[in-house]
Amino acid sequence: MTQSVIRVNLPQNAYEIAIASDGLDRLGAWMKSLGLGKKVMLVSNPTVFGYYGSRAIESLESVGFEVAHYLFPDGEEYKTLASIQGLYDEALAFKLERSSTMVALGGGIVGDMTGFAAATWLRGIGFVQIPTTLLAMVDASIGGKTGVNHPEGKNLIGAFYQPRLVSIDPKVLATLPDREFRAGMAEVIKYGVIWDAQLFAQLEAAPQLDRSEALPPNLLQEILIRSCQAKADVVSQDEKEAGLRAILNYGHTIGHAVESLTNYTEFLHGEAVGIGMVAASRIALAMDLWDRQCDDRQLALIEKAGLPTQLPPGIDFDSIVAKLQTDKKVKDGKVRFVLPSAIGKVTVSDRVPEDAIRSALATLR
Ligand code: NAD
Ligand code: GLY
Repeated sequence: MTQSVIRVNLPQNAYEIAIASDGLDRLGAWMKSLGLGKKVMLVSNPTVFGYYGSRAIESLESVGFEVAHYLFPDGEEYKTLASIQGLYDEALAFKLERSSTMVALGGGIVGDMTGFAAATWLRGIGFVQIPTTLLAMVDASIGGKTGVNHPEGKNLIGAFYQPRLVSIDPKVLATLPDREFRAGMAEVIKYGVIWDAQLFAQLEAAPQLDRSEALPPNLLQEILIRSCQAKADVVSQDEKEAGLRAILNYGHTIGHAVESLTNYTEFLHGEAVGIGMVAASRIALAMDLWDRQCDDRQLALIEKAGLPTQLPPGIDFDSIVAKLQTDKKVKDGKVRFVLPSAIGKVTVSDRVPEDAIRSALATLR
């Protein structure tokens, strides 16, 4: 068993990310060591619970936790306040107390919703993340962004609420559909570009990046460690996104516009981020922030991960430019872009000329 522990060093709410190949079975012991109360509500969806629910419950019960479970239906369309109401009802019936814990077993959707419910039930009870998608392992489970969608926009309702523990068992990726794995790989590549040149080099040296089984377990472990460390470093320095944390949105500005203009049906989030990173790189090229060789290296990694790198034919540049104005991160009418300046380094700019955006987009057709 290889186990690695990464600390998210927040002044008030520090916690650990444990990465271990038998993490699911050690969950109970980990939680017990944190002194969490007896009652635990395990929250998941039918897909993930079907694979891993009983192992998680066994691990918790074996050390004396009293466990109930609640399942959200699977899918982004259920990431709503109405779904949370069902969990609140169950929390009431099971008599969850302030000392109790909600444990999220699933991808980013289950994690975001469970975190929001934990933040709001009794004004805040314990919360533990067991991410089961690559995207949730390296991104969504770390950093305390929780919430649900509003009919008018994604993640408009939410709270910052840090978990007490993130427990990652890489073996659960064996059942994750390949397309979901690739979408998570986009966020991994993102960390290589924005923060960790060594991670980027390791990804370049990897034989394949498009399927979890194609990665040797020690390489997968290393990729998880470096990605989680990158996210932990950034969040530890800027918990509530006052500044630095915005760099995590690399590839997300154009990415969000593409997702939204295709009605969230054509691309998974990570796939849109892949396109967004290519676009951001081309903007950086147009503005002389970085060079063609860096652009080529990033493109090669995104292609190696089997992610799309071109804009779909159905959306025109005018609608993308117009959509950018509705981005959550627009400040005083100015669109903020995260732009690469070297492998492992980015800057944030709200002075990107529209010409640079349009000429960059033209290279993605
Ligand atoms: P997801 O939660 O929808 O999971 C993807 C699919 O994989 C689902 O059908 C799920 O049931 C299935 N699945 C999950 N783990 C599995 C496993 N091990 N084996 C088999 N199937 C499995 O998608 P996601 O990409 O993990 O998360 C997307 C959500 O995360 C979005 O709602 C997004 O807004 C949110 N998000 C949040 C943050 C944050 O910082 N909080 C960051 C990024 C994304
Ligand atoms: N996923 C971006 C963030 O956590 O800030």
